Amino acid sequence: MDEIVVKNLSFSYDKTHPVLSEVTFSVSRGSHISIVGHNGSGKSTLAKLLIGLLERSNGEIFIDGILLNEKTINDIREKMCLVFQNPDNQFIGSTVEDDIAFGLENKRVSQPEMKDIIASFAEEVGMGKYLNKEPSMLSGGQKQRVAIAGALALSPNIIIFDEATSMLDPNGKKEIINVIKRMRNSNPDLTIISITHDVEEAFISDEVIVLSQGKIVMSGKPSIVFSDRETLKKYRLDMPFLLDFKEKLKAIDINISEEKTLDEIVETICQSK
Ligand SMILES: Nc1ncnc2c1ncn2[C@@H]1O[C@H](COP(=O)(O)OP(=O)(O)OP(=O)(O)O)[C@@H](O)[C@H]1O
Ligand SMILES: [Mg+2]
Repeated sequence: MDEIVVKNLSFSYDKTHPVLSEVTFSVSRGSHISIVGHNGSGKSTLAKLLIGLLERSNGEIFIDGILLNEKTINDIREKMCLVFQNPDNQFIGSTVEDDIAFGLENKRVSQPEMKDIIASFAEEVGMGKYLNKEPSMLSGGQKQRVAIAGALALSPNIIIFDEATSMLDPNGKKEIINVIKRMRNSNPDLTIISITHDVEEAFISDEVIVLSQGKIVMSGKPSIVFSDRETLKKYRLDMPFLLDFKEKLKAIDINISEEKTLDEIVETICQSK
C-alpha cells in the first residue's frame, strides 16, 4: 500500500518563479527512499510541503490515503516527523531530556514511560550521558543526534530527514544509519524519506528520486540511478563508492554481480588470484 502519494505537485514562494513543477511520485509503506539533487533543487521545499508547513500551489498530497488539507493536517502531522538540516532551529527544551520529552508530552505518554523512552532513544543515538545538559552547550552533531532521538521517540509512521546527518562526522553518520536500520527491523511499517547530499546514504535506500530545478529527472533503484556516470555529472551527483569500484574492476575484466558488498568483492578478487 502506498503511504505517500504526490500528484502533480507545484509550488512557488513568490507565485512567479516555480520552485517545484509537476512533481509526481509515491512511496510504499515501510520503504526507505532518498531524495537527492543540487543546492536549490527544491528538496527542503518538498519536505515542508509533505508535512504541511507550506501550502502547495497545485496538485495533491495523500498520506495514508488521506488528502492533505486544512481539515486533515493535524491528524496527518501526528503520523509524521521532520528532522531539519539545522539543529539550532528545533530546540525547545532547557535540557536534552526536556527536549526529547517535548513531543512525548503532547502525546500524553505517562511520566515513568516517558523517562524510559527518552533514556532508550538518547542511548540509541549515543547521547545517553547528556540528558541533563543544556542543548546550547552541545556541538552541532550532538544537537542533531538529540533532534533525531526526539523524532524517533515519537514513533511516527513516516520520518523525513532533511540533511539530518550532514553535520555528523563519518562515525556519527554510520551510527545514525545503523539506528535507522534497527528502527526498520523493529518496525517494518516505518516509512523513511532521506533528503541527502551523501550518495553513500542514498545508496542504501530502496529507491532514489533525483530533483533538478524543481523537477524529478530520474528515479528508481539506487544501483540503476547511480550507474550512469554521464547523467550523474549532469545533475552534479557523485557515483557511490561501491559502483565506482565495480566499474573500475570491470575495466580490468573483473566482473562483480550487482548485490555484492565490499567484503564479498574483495573475497572474489582474492579467490580469482
Ligand atoms: N523561504 C523562501 N522564500 C523564497 N525562496 C525560497 C525560500 N526557501 C527556499 N527558496 C528558494 O527555493 C528554491 C529551492 O530551495 P530549497 O531550500 O527547497 O532547495 P534544497 O534542494 O533544499 O537546497 P539545499 O541542498 O541547499 O538544501 C531555491 O531557489 C531557494 O532560493
Ligand atoms: Mg535543503
